[in-house]
Amino acid sequence: MSDRLAIIAANWKMHKIHTEAIQFAQKLHYLLDEGDLARVEVPICAPYTDLRTLQTLIDADRLPFKLGAQNVYWEEEGAYTGEVSPRMLRALDVDYVICGHSERRELFAETDEMVTKKVDASFSHGMTPILCVGETLEEREAGEAESKVVGQLTASTAHLSTAQVTELVVAYEPIWAIGTGQTATPDDAQEMCGTIRRRLEELHGAEAAGKARIQYGGSVKPGNIEMIMKGPDVDGALVGGASLDPEDFARILTAW
Ligand code: PGA
Repeated sequence: MSDRLAIIAANWKMHKIHTEAIQFAQKLHYLLDEGDLARVEVPICAPYTDLRTLQTLIDADRLPFKLGAQNVYWEEEGAYTGEVSPRMLRALDVDYVICGHSERRELFAETDEMVTKKVDASFSHGMTPILCVGETLEEREAGEAESKVVGQLTASTAHLSTAQVTELVVAYEPIWAIGTGQTATPDDAQEMCGTIRRRLEELHGAEAAGKARIQYGGSVKPGNIEMIMKGPDVDGALVGGASLDPEDFARILTAW
């Protein structure tokens, strides 16, 4: 950790209907106190169908959570059946957008080019992208983890402005660790997060790179968050499975 504000985001993936989202947010709030939340930003990246409900609840009850989306299309509006635009998300006070999650890259054939358009669309509508990068097990075993991650990172950030990099969140998510219970070691997480920061520094200078926040994601649990957060370049986590239960997620937010 550093003096950057920590950011631990829930990625619910395709879980929870809107009434379950309400129960979760109320319970999570009940489990935390003000001190817990002063040191960490907490975006809840919910399915589209939950966003309006969560916006209303966060607003009415003044809950200290941010709203995040798990995807976005890059056009403002138009004949794109089934897509959701950045303008629609911003109108619901969405602050964060997960861009290029490995499940989207693998299951929905998102390319670096598409991910980059999503990053740009998020920024241009006043939202912060959480850019996901990460290698497969085969790539890691072949010694290609770093080149894969640096390649994805470079493709989607080289063109950004310094101001955008200052705001940026990058999530390093080794694909073999997602939903498998197999976490990267804290040293591996730190090493790759450090590589990501050095690459941002080469591209955009030390000041902007020093302000960008880098998360680790992949089987983060209450029992491993403390060690993971010790890495000087690890500013937080993107949490899937363990973010579905408010008690587990509250422990992740407080156990470091
Ligand atoms: P996991 O998912 O915590 O369930 O491994 C993380 C993610 O995919 O963002």
